[in-house]
Amino acid sequence: MTDPKEVLAHYILPILANKRVIGLGTGKTVRKLVEVMALQGSLQGRILVTSSTDTDLLASSKGALVLSPFSGVIPEIYVDGFDFLVESQGRKVLIKGGGAALLREKILSFFSKERIFIGETSKFVSRREIQVPVEVVPAGFSLILVRLNEMGLKPVPREGSGKMGPVVTDNGNLILDISVMVEDLCKWERELKTIPGVVETGIFCENLYDSIVIGDSEGRIQVF
Ligand code: 5RP
Repeated sequence: MTDPKEVLAHYILPILANKRVIGLGTGKTVRKLVEVMALQGSLQGRILVTSSTDTDLLASSKGALVLSPFSGVIPEIYVDGFDFLVESQGRKVLIKGGGAALLREKILSFFSKERIFIGETSKFVSRREIQVPVEVVPAGFSLILVRLNEMGLKPVPREGSGKMGPVVTDNGNLILDISVMVEDLCKWERELKTIPGVVETGIFCENLYDSIVIGDSEGRIQVF
């Protein structure tokens, strides 16, 4: 039995072999990839365009040359994790933002030349309704909360653990977690962004990925 994140990292390494500018998402799966790359010496000579302070800090502590999306540098390839993979209207849709990183991740996946998302088999779920993070500007928070309630989306403000107060994203925004019918995910992705103050959602439809790779602890890999 192996850690599926390690299985995924070893699957991805050869794909990254001839890429110099690599975009990286956020989370434990990406952390594992950075650690494996560091162990294999494959961070040297590369530029990493990172989607969060978390990934910045890890990658630079391993000696990588790190740029933020502010640089305007386009990654040849973007690799990221996800929270859930679901089937919606016969298409695969990813849900991201469990760690409150979703806006920079979506910017990088939109602009990168190739986009691969990696995750454990257990993240491929079958549900009728699913929680989706929505990033909103603080000034619109209260009004958007009321509106999303009126729309029947059961918004819940994302709180930090303990008495930390609301979760603030790397962009200075706040997160509302809503509940959405899986079959309507890509419709909501478009509609939610018509509300002023909604910056982005954690819904990643087909236009934002090229492949999705899932791996298990037996070393099995499936590519969609
Ligand atoms: C952060 C994300 C992550 O990609 C997602 O939460 C997956 O994280 P992990 O690799 O830790 O399971 O969207 O907001």
